[in-house]
Amino acid sequence: MEEIVSLAKRRGFVFQSSEIYGGINGFWDFGPLGATLRKNIKDYWWKKTVIERDDVVGVDTSIIAHPETWKASGHVDCFSDPMVDCKKCKGRFRADHINDLSCPEKPSKRPGECGGELTEPRSFNLMFKTYVGPVEENANVAYLRPETCQSIFTQFKNVSTTSRQKIPFGIAQIGKSFRNEITPKNFIFRSREFEQMEMEFFIRVGEEEGEKWYQHWKEARLNWFYSLGIRKEKLRLREHAKDELAHYAKGCVDVEYEFPMGWSELEGIANRSNYDLTQHMKFSKKDLSYFDDETKEKYVPAVIECSLGVDRTFLTLLCDAYTKDSIDGEERVVMKFAPHIAPVQVAVFPLSKKIGEVAHKIEKDLRKSFLTDFDESGSIGKRYRRQDEIGTPFCVTYDFESETDKMVTVRERDTTKQERIAIDQLKNYLSDKIAE
Ligand code: GAP
Repeated sequence: MEEIVSLAKRRGFVFQSSEIYGGINGFWDFGPLGATLRKNIKDYWWKKTVIERDDVVGVDTSIIAHPETWKASGHVDCFSDPMVDCKKCKGRFRADHINDLSCPEKPSKRPGECGGELTEPRSFNLMFKTYVGPVEENANVAYLRPETCQSIFTQFKNVSTTSRQKIPFGIAQIGKSFRNEITPKNFIFRSREFEQMEMEFFIRVGEEEGEKWYQHWKEARLNWFYSLGIRKEKLRLREHAKDELAHYAKGCVDVEYEFPMGWSELEGIANRSNYDLTQHMKFSKKDLSYFDDETKEKYVPAVIECSLGVDRTFLTLLCDAYTKDSIDGEERVVMKFAPHIAPVQVAVFPLSKKIGEVAHKIEKDLRKSFLTDFDESGSIGKRYRRQDEIGTPFCVTYDFESETDKMVTVRERDTTKQERIAIDQLKNYLSDKIAE
């Protein structure tokens, strides 16, 4: 993980937030390559989940919602971790993580072993609180959303009537979420500000329907990770045991990835019954039920939820792509991103600055179809290494021969194989290789 973190900073994928002020724990900034990789992840999720399906529509809702939303969802009362304080060093720790934590005064010791006494556990709500309007009083308290899905539930009626979708159908959303995590850790794996991609798929109530769509989404979601190029053997589904399930849930499975720190959750897929809509009906006193034209029945739909983090997907891609191999006896670091997701897909090099202008023109043309980079400094070998390290799948060199034969050399990242391609065929050649 340390090597990945170091590469992420060195090459402008991820920086510590507010680094010049010493950083702020649990918050991260994404540099030029990181911002593009995140955008590619989100666009690809949106394409597969919303655009290419007939039965899912998208929304984009506000980060701050009416505070009753969070009472109905259970977050005000139950979204908390048990915390203990050390009376001596004043450290605050998650009571259920004591054995993994160290004392801030004596890092070789566990909390409470510095001679201090730990208080009884108290619950600490993970939602960030703020005030709406100029007066800081209880009546104006609001929360930064800890998950994006609650506004999908509260807007269910508006979306279902305006989109003319019929059950079964889903509502998807990508957006920032905030949790005041007690122990943000493992780089961007657990942050305090992160982005979620969530989809709530509304279905008829009933055991059979629930099971059918639960299975459908488990398969669809796993395939999505495969099509991102993530190695199959590093992914698994972990079904929750009965005692891990919320009382209303009929089933829940985590998509897990084997990160350097071990198998950890990437996405949760849950068969949540109709608990969420029922809660919002109770708290808002508005009817969120659905009239089914086909069965002529009115009911509160059940839901299958698929919820994953952009940041965890990003970290998975970094971990999975990070490879060291050797080329002609020289060790190289290469990020083996799938070409359709790589933040730079094609880099163009002129062999010499003297022919830079024509090479730059080729690169500008390619920009219309691909994410590109232009590099004219250093030896070609050095330029290859720089592109390998950020995961560019194709490098195109324009040399002196290109001036007469109108061909360029295309070098493939993983095999380092080189091919001579006619310039007027270059776009088609690359399109075939980069298409998902
Ligand atoms: N609406 C359901 C929900 O939010 P969750 O398991 O709490 O469920 C879903 O979160 C996903 O959001 C996780 O699988 C993870 O990918 C991402 N996520 C949750 N907390 C996170 C955090 N503190 N930092 C980064 N990603 C997080």
